[in-house]
Amino acid sequence: MDIQLKDKVFEPYIEKEKIAAALDELSEKIRSDYDGKKPLFLGVLNGCFMFASDLLKALDMDCEISFVKMASYEGTQSTGTVNEIIGVNENIEGRDIIILEDIVDTGNTLEKFRKQLNEKNPASVKIATLLFKPGVFDKDYTVDYIGIEIPDNFVVGYGLDYDGAGRNIDSVYVIKED
Ligand code: IMP
Ligand code: MG
Repeated sequence: MDIQLKDKVFEPYIEKEKIAAALDELSEKIRSDYDGKKPLFLGVLNGCFMFASDLLKALDMDCEISFVKMASYEGTQSTGTVNEIIGVNENIEGRDIIILEDIVDTGNTLEKFRKQLNEKNPASVKIATLLFKPGVFDKDYTVDYIGIEIPDNFVVGYGLDYDGAGRNIDSVYVIKED
């Protein structure tokens, strides 16, 4: 059934069962890749909260999790937006980091985040995302763990929002063009 969020209508797109199956596959890959290690997951808020929770529940291994947030500031000059990371308080030197994102679109957000993390000398930095838009991504770093690839359509639900709305929906909906 379609849903209305603010001025837009969305239709069902990825059902709960498909998300759960993707998480089972992802968690199994991560578990075998990090065998004998204790990765530190860094979830990027706000969108990752449901993905992070369900993925880590599916993941049967020793690990830690913390959350970060990107703060955007408008520059005083027309130099664009500067992103700063809030919340990496852990000493990540020598740690195996896995960044958790709800969706990687252009890849801009993680490009900056990766650079800032790498300055703190972790042992490794990988990226896990529930959704990935390969048609939009134009960066040269690798998105290591991808749950589900989708075309370049705006989606909501399962943590993703439309102007703050829809994050609590337990499956993914796509915008309905009229
Ligand atoms: P990127 O920096 O272009 O990769 O965008 C990443 C961020 O944009 C995600 O963490 C989301 O917060 C947001 N985003 C990108 N695509 C969508 C979408 O289809 N629906 C909701 N949010 C999105
Ligand atoms: Mg996000």
